[in-house]
Amino acid sequence: MRGVLHLRAGGDTFTPELVEAFLAEYTRPGDVVFDPFAGFGTTLIVAERMGRRPLGLEILPDRVEFVRSRLNDPAAIQCADARTLDRLDLPRIDFSITSPPYMTRDDHPQNPLSGYQTLDGDYEAYLADLAEIYRHLRGQLAPDAKVVINAANLHLHKTRLAWDIGQAVSKVLTYERDIVIDWDEPKEWFTNDYCLVFTP
Ligand SMILES: C[S@@+](CC[C@H](N)C(=O)[O-])C[C@H]1O[C@@H](n2cnc3c(N)ncnc32)[C@H](O)[C@@H]1O
Repeated sequence: MRGVLHLRAGGDTFTPELVEAFLAEYTRPGDVVFDPFAGFGTTLIVAERMGRRPLGLEILPDRVEFVRSRLNDPAAIQCADARTLDRLDLPRIDFSITSPPYMTRDDHPQNPLSGYQTLDGDYEAYLADLAEIYRHLRGQLAPDAKVVINAANLHLHKTRLAWDIGQAVSKVLTYERDIVIDWDEPKEWFTNDYCLVFTP
């Protein structure tokens, strides 16, 4: 894969085309593809369509129901908090990709890792919690697994989110490379959008 991936945004920034590109590059049919922040299920739906075995966690029950209705295998998504990953009975994971819930450095009381449901947001704690989630995930990874995190730098909020997440997760996984997503329609709320690639 080249260092820059050209994609059409179509209103979203974690698109099926983005997931497809990484699954084609880093996975084979039958691989377990994990998304710790499954959201509206883009990763899981694309993985299922490409013959991979999707597995995802999502903290908000209504999103879990929505994603279940879109999957052939409703058991592929669990309603669970990724911060409890060490207590979940997960299989060996061949590949993980996600777009984590975003946070800004300035004035952000809603905690992204509670699905913005609690007001204990703290940027440094958020980065530490993300690193902890990936530290636990490391124990579940196949030796040749790749882990991809999609995040942008949020210049309007003076938040170098992609770089900060990269630094935090590099403490628990091995940084391999980054790929810049070149969206056809630039968004004013971020400068560059990255896919950070790690190995166990
Ligand atoms: C940006 S979306 C993820 C998009 C997703 N990767 C996809 O394929 O559509 C982030 C999601 O993470 C969920 N979330 C936030 N904190 C969580 C946690 N601690 N555990 C699991 N899911 C969480 C949010 O509710 C939100 O749906």
